[in-house]
Amino acid sequence: MRIRLALLSAALASGVAGVAIAAESMPKADPAKAQQTVSQVCAACHGPTGQSPLPENPHLAGQIAEYTTKQLMNFKAADGKQAERVNPIMAGMVANLTPEDMRNLGAYFAEQTPNKGFARNTATVELGQQIYRGGIASQGIPACSGCHGAAGAGMPAQYPRLAGQHPEYIEAQMKAWRSGARANDPGKMMRAIADKMSDAQIKAVADYISGLR
Ligand code: HEC
Ligand code: HEC
Repeated sequence: MRIRLALLSAALASGVAGVAIAAESMPKADPAKAQQTVSQVCAACHGPTGQSPLPENPHLAGQIAEYTTKQLMNFKAADGKQAERVNPIMAGMVANLTPEDMRNLGAYFAEQTPNKGFARNTATVELGQQIYRGGIASQGIPACSGCHGAAGAGMPAQYPRLAGQHPEYIEAQMKAWRSGARANDPGKMMRAIADKMSDAQIKAVADYISGLR
């Protein structure tokens, strides 16, 4: 009995030690290691520092690192299952990336200077601001600022930066949450909100957000 107990506690002790070693051997995210992939692959669409020239390609500069890493993982189909975030272009981009590459890329873009945009539509900027800061209580739409921050800078680790993003991209994502084409939001947080919004409300808040800085 004594011997068996001793063996058991030895096994437990080594088990615990094993966990500690595994945690230590997980390398810290290293943005420098992402540089080559960014220059050779991502820059073509997202720009060399994550400020993308075309509105259909999102800005990545200044994004919350964990959010970027999560999206890269979500774009990748695993174990024969469909990817959590379905996009044919990005599926090809992540196919050969390891989880470590994805963490390094997240760290790289988080370090870059975010884009500074402008709201373009003076007729809707007030409505956009109202939705962003206060929501629309009568429709059960919450304030975007509650999760994405007063200035749209996002909040680690779950809530992405929105400030300065291309309005066309924001609008497209809101419509994708609403139709269910994008369904990788934890707890259906974004689908529940987009469901309640009209096209005009989405457009107004997207334009307002693009001018946040
Ligand atoms: C051929 C163009 C193209 C290239 C090259 C490309 N991307 Fe993308 N990327 C896109 C498009 C388009 C989207 C938007 C997808 C959507 O609408 O859902 C996107 C979306 C993303 C997103 C999601 C951003 C967000 O705000 O949710 C991340 C992260 C991303 N790309 C990272 C990368 C990285 C890292 C690389 C290089 C390994 C890369 N992309 C290469 C076109 C590209
Ligand atoms: C309860 C918290 C919460 C609120 C309130 C909220 N969001 Fe989000 N939002 C999230 C989360 C979480 C994500 C990231 C989902 C994921 O992991 O893909 C997100 C993602 C997004 C994205 C995608 C960003 C990208 O780069 O692809 C957009 C656009 C967005 N939210 C717009 C809004 C707008 C507009 C409002 C207000 C009408 C709003 N959100 C309110 C939690 C929230």
